[in-house]
Amino acid sequence: MTEATIIDGKVIAARVTYKIAAQTEDYVRETGTPPCLAVVLVGEDPASSIYVRNKGRTAEKVGFNSIQHTLPIDTPEDDLIALINKLNSDPVVNGILVQLPLPTHINATKIIELIAPEKDVDGFHPINIGRLGAGDFDKALIPCTPAGSVILAKSVLGDNLSGLHTVILGRSNIVGKPAAQLFLAENCTVTIAHSRTRNIEDVVRLADIVVAAVGRPEMVKGEWIKPGATVIDVGINRIAAPEKGEGKTRLVGDVDFTSAATVAGYITPVPGGVGPMTIALLMANTFAAACRQNGVPHLIKPL
Ligand code: GUN
Repeated sequence: MTEATIIDGKVIAARVTYKIAAQTEDYVRETGTPPCLAVVLVGEDPASSIYVRNKGRTAEKVGFNSIQHTLPIDTPEDDLIALINKLNSDPVVNGILVQLPLPTHINATKIIELIAPEKDVDGFHPINIGRLGAGDFDKALIPCTPAGSVILAKSVLGDNLSGLHTVILGRSNIVGKPAAQLFLAENCTVTIAHSRTRNIEDVVRLADIVVAAVGRPEMVKGEWIKPGATVIDVGINRIAAPEKGEGKTRLVGDVDFTSAATVAGYITPVPGGVGPMTIALLMANTFAAACRQNGVPHLIKPL
């Protein structure tokens, strides 16, 4: 039984952050201040709190300033709007990230549209979505998880993905749709499959590259994978793990790793695959935003 080669997201993310840290030293020498990332968390959802803490820690590790605003779960929408307006007009702040999901009494679309596009390091603002669609990569800020997925695919397939068939499972604004745009920009043939797709296994079996981003634990089985394909698993699902003891849980992806690893050529693990790349690409976006805002040329081309 052949086993796929595991793509180590931690190693590749460390390569990206190492380059950013080196260039940050030059940036500080030139401008006198480090790039600054502001992260806003509303409420205390445990998973969101961990993500936000990791983002802040990585920012400091690469030499950025990191500001965290933690607001109570019942924060009125107007208070969050006032905070975003303040961060938008603060010249010290280069990047703004509002952790999602937001509580239901806050209109997330309204908040995303309020963030200044040049500080929108998530790449969720309609202006950045449009720039991505138009291929205007010099001005766009690109969603971090999809960008990380492209880098992971290139880390094993090389820089030229031209002509490869990429099947993306999931059509979210955060992952599926921007991932489709990015793989298209790499000259891939792109198919988006989703919950209404007929014979989804047959569609996935056409893929040279599979990007699974549906949020359904271990949905993609080994029999769905073309032998030798590259599998990028974006899912992070917490499921019960009674084998570890009562009430224990473990993280799994959207891909059934055990069966997929017997068929795929390359596969990302969960955790330790796409997750670390998302944070690394957030640093790349923050650095790009800071350079653009201050007229500093920068060389980081993560994709
Ligand atoms: N929640 C889950 N993923 C993300 C992300 O990439 N950015 C933000 N802001 N919130 C998230």
